[in-house]
Amino acid sequence: SAAEKGGYDYFMLKEIAEQPKAVADTLLGRIDAAGSLTLDEVRIGAAELREVDKVVIVACGTAFHAGLIAKYAIEHWTRIPCEVELASEFRYRDPILDRQTLVVAISQSGETMDTLMALRHAREQGARVLAICNTNGSTIPRESDAVLYTHAGPEVAVASTKAFLTQLVACYLVALYLGQVRGTKWGDEIRDVVRELSRISREVERVLETMEPVRELARSLADKGTVLFLGRHVGYPVALEGALKLKELAYMHAEGFAAGELKHGPIALIEEDMPVVVVTPSPRGRSVLHDKIVSNIQEIRARGARTIVVAEEGDEAVVPYADHLIRIPATPTLLQPLVSTVPLQVFACELATARGNEVDQPRNLAKSVTVE
Ligand code: AGP
Repeated sequence: SAAEKGGYDYFMLKEIAEQPKAVADTLLGRIDAAGSLTLDEVRIGAAELREVDKVVIVACGTAFHAGLIAKYAIEHWTRIPCEVELASEFRYRDPILDRQTLVVAISQSGETMDTLMALRHAREQGARVLAICNTNGSTIPRESDAVLYTHAGPEVAVASTKAFLTQLVACYLVALYLGQVRGTKWGDEIRDVVRELSRISREVERVLETMEPVRELARSLADKGTVLFLGRHVGYPVALEGALKLKELAYMHAEGFAAGELKHGPIALIEEDMPVVVVTPSPRGRSVLHDKIVSNIQEIRARGARTIVVAEEGDEAVVPYADHLIRIPATPTLLQPLVSTVPLQVFACELATARGNEVDQPRNLAKSVTVE
């Protein structure tokens, strides 16, 4: 009903708008005033966490993209090797797991059969399983050794939005917590990240306030056949997520690529006026990557692409090559997906509407996939 949608036309719009709150709720009570993490709910003892020598993340779809981003954070902040695997592939390749492996199963619904079967397999091999889940008492957390709940509230639209942002927050918390427990040197970078994380919900809010030009752009592209998404580092999984949203909502051909792979094949796809969305890393810190992506934008534009550039406020280097510029607030590199994903969600939702598609219930899809 209209009341359930809180005045929005679709649940998806409501859920996109709820993201600042979902992010804040997921952080609530988990970082104290001194910047320490208090994740008592993770009932895997500190001694065991200190012994972990490998993290393996299993998930599907959007949750898998959250896992891909988590890998960057976990490896960078804790130096523990981390693998991310599609849950549906996991047990069929006979993965190497033991008691020192921490398996993280990410699922909004907690009922995804592929993810459930992956975690059962992991536990049979003796691994500890930590679930990141949005649904209290669902099967995945019940069958795991521990659970860190995301507090997105019920997500009704089939396309995942607020659950994704809260999965990212939970992944960052797990990474920071592992670092804390294992005594990773709490350098300035991590202190900065913790501080920025506690204010990130305000930044998500700011992004939402500036989305009208993105909606306008989306409407103008409604008759396009293909949209490509490029990113590097944590922007690469964001590109995959942008493409997935467009496939499921707009039924358009969309693909996400690592920008560095472009020259190894995908650049052949570029045609006159083809929209290409580029998620640009921060010009600070990882500036080498930034320079490289600026030359990617130049290259595709020289081949006729219509460049849609998502870039931090103050990033002037991209301006000459951007046919459309979508500004996001500056954040620490690893946290950028919390703000860069939002315009891509809005873009896909508006394109779906412009194409006359059913936004909350895309064809052929179910909210939770309870078959393998
Ligand atoms: C995302 O928009 C999807 N509809 C889908 O990929 C989803 O993320 C996937 O099926 C996993 O679901 P889960 O988080 O409930 O396990």
